[in-house]
Amino acid sequence: MQLYVDSANLADIRAAAALGCISGVTTNPSLLAKEDPSLDVKALLLDIHRTVGGHTSVEVVSTDSDGMLREADEILQWFPEATIKIPFIPAGLTAVRKLADQGIPTNVTLLFTANQALIAANAGATYVSVFLGRLDDISTDGVQAVRDTAEIWDTHGMESLIIAASIRNPLHLLECARAGAHIATVPYKVLLQSMKHPLTDAGLEAFLNDYKAMVAKKGS
Ligand code: G3P
Repeated sequence: MQLYVDSANLADIRAAAALGCISGVTTNPSLLAKEDPSLDVKALLLDIHRTVGGHTSVEVVSTDSDGMLREADEILQWFPEATIKIPFIPAGLTAVRKLADQGIPTNVTLLFTANQALIAANAGATYVSVFLGRLDDISTDGVQAVRDTAEIWDTHGMESLIIAASIRNPLHLLECARAGAHIATVPYKVLLQSMKHPLTDAGLEAFLNDYKAMVAKKGS
């Protein structure tokens, strides 16, 4: 399972990219809106793409398919490797089919059930983003939606890649990997939390102290 960063914050994306374990980045309008309003969106997205070098999902904000396709054209002029992120609405599916027919990668977002993911995949989505955290927020098992999707994908040999999105904590990450998601898109904070283990810290401290003691002993 690959890891993407779910962020539009350049500092976080740079820090995550420096870890060497990130294959892409997903953005959305809300994540962009959290950043400095003086930043030019196009310039920011180009910086983000240059920083990570791999998958970069950029979301459209139109709600009609012609508008979505116009936005997709514009984004692809910024950088042709972009993946066009499209909301799961009927107009979105029309746009996904048209983009898929031209070989342009799409990421269908705001999926909350395996049925939605199945429909998006049949419209030609390259990626299907299943949101866990927002399901948990309404007392519904978010991981189950990813598990159901992965099971259907296995049964029918579906080709779209399943992105586990709306990941809020390390347990979500673990459960998505167990459920069979192909990719997890993770906020930088959750990536750091998932790296942390007290035995790693204690083990390193002991290694360094032991080595220092050995050097001191040799020197005396
Ligand atoms: O990128 C979409 C998704 O990951 C958003 O997460 O935490 O706003 O539900 P969240």
